[in-house]
Amino acid sequence: MLRIATRTLNRRFTMASTFANVAEEVKLDILSENHLEDNIAKRKEITRTFISDTITVPTQEMYQYATLATLGDDVYFEPSTRALENHVAKITGKEAALFLPSGTASNQIALRSHLAQPPYSIICDHRAHIHKYEAGGAAFHSGAAVLPIIPANEHHLTLKDVQSNMILSTDIHFAPTEVVALENTLNGTIFPQDEIIKISDFVHLQGKKMHLDGARIWHVAAETETSIKKLCEPFDSVSLCFSKGLGAPVGSCLVGSSAFISRARHFRKLFGGGMRQTGILAACAAYALTYNFPLLPAVHSLARKLEAGLEEIGAEITSRAETCMIFYDPSSIGVTYDEIGERASQLPEPLILGGSRVVVHIQTSEAAVNDFLSVVRQLSEEKKKSGFVKPDPTSANGNIYKDVYVRRLPKSTD
Ligand SMILES: Cc1ncc(COP(=O)(O)O)c(C=O)c1O
Repeated sequence: MLRIATRTLNRRFTMASTFANVAEEVKLDILSENHLEDNIAKRKEITRTFISDTITVPTQEMYQYATLATLGDDVYFEPSTRALENHVAKITGKEAALFLPSGTASNQIALRSHLAQPPYSIICDHRAHIHKYEAGGAAFHSGAAVLPIIPANEHHLTLKDVQSNMILSTDIHFAPTEVVALENTLNGTIFPQDEIIKISDFVHLQGKKMHLDGARIWHVAAETETSIKKLCEPFDSVSLCFSKGLGAPVGSCLVGSSAFISRARHFRKLFGGGMRQTGILAACAAYALTYNFPLLPAVHSLARKLEAGLEEIGAEITSRAETCMIFYDPSSIGVTYDEIGERASQLPEPLILGGSRVVVHIQTSEAAVNDFLSVVRQLSEEKKKSGFVKPDPTSANGNIYKDVYVRRLPKSTD
């Protein structure tokens, strides 16, 4: 009897000590001693980073608001998330909305929900995110062929581009086009709404679907002073992101008819995107819509200031600052992107730059724009001093040179 009791006690002791060991192994403190200072430095760095607007970070005020969100499970019902979805459905003029973890998930689930059984194809601009930067998702998830089109006007697709590339034939050699997917903004440029309407009328007449990657549709609304509803009207589905120009940490909404969103909700679960306590994320998005959307006109002004400065120095603008992005080419002043990046990284307060694309966002400081222009100006002066002469575009050599730098299409990343 005593032996059995001792054995049980021993086992309990062993279990307790084993559990303590496991708990010791499992526990983690990710907050370093310096993380508060690190975050202050990170916030500063973001004000001087021009590579994307996805790097924008939540403010203390956004965090504080988010902690007040509801605590439901979004696979079943999450009140704050449902409130966000209902609001986004309302402002886009659609029946329903679905909160998703990313713009890629939102675009890909939209395509999958529109498409039933291959063979079929999707038409889009050759620079479109769904074609270039979603890891071939349309082929993988939906078995769709993507037909990327180069716009004849080098700015946006026109009805003519769509008509001459859309596959409506019943010839069994082809994959009929089921979805025309547009992007607005695309590389920061605004798609003219009258052309969108023409394309949409034609596509709908053929009984086909229109999807919009509206990751940055907020910028179009802010710049053209057009309601989100009007911009979304020509589309059966629209994906809108909160985590780029609007500065929320995570999330996108997909909108469309109730039947379409029910289907998308099913695919979201199937693809593993059904999240649980998303209230805090929805609250960040709501905060961004309320407090950050109004900042976009100032962002666009700052982008135009940057563009004007670059032009004044003599750099070539290859894609204008219609909203928050500029593409430029400094070879016209004899300078390379690497030289600019290198010099900018050596400033007492460094700048972080990519190549041809410059993105201004709600956390970009005006001082960073001024410093960027100073770096380019300084390098341009140095090149002039060392004998660089801007080629005359009217001369034979100048024409060759112009071909090299003007024809290069803007390169896009996130
Ligand atoms: C136009 C556009 N669409 C979609 C996405 C994808 O969004 P995410 O990075 O959240 O997947 C991006 C990313 O920046 C984008 O720029």
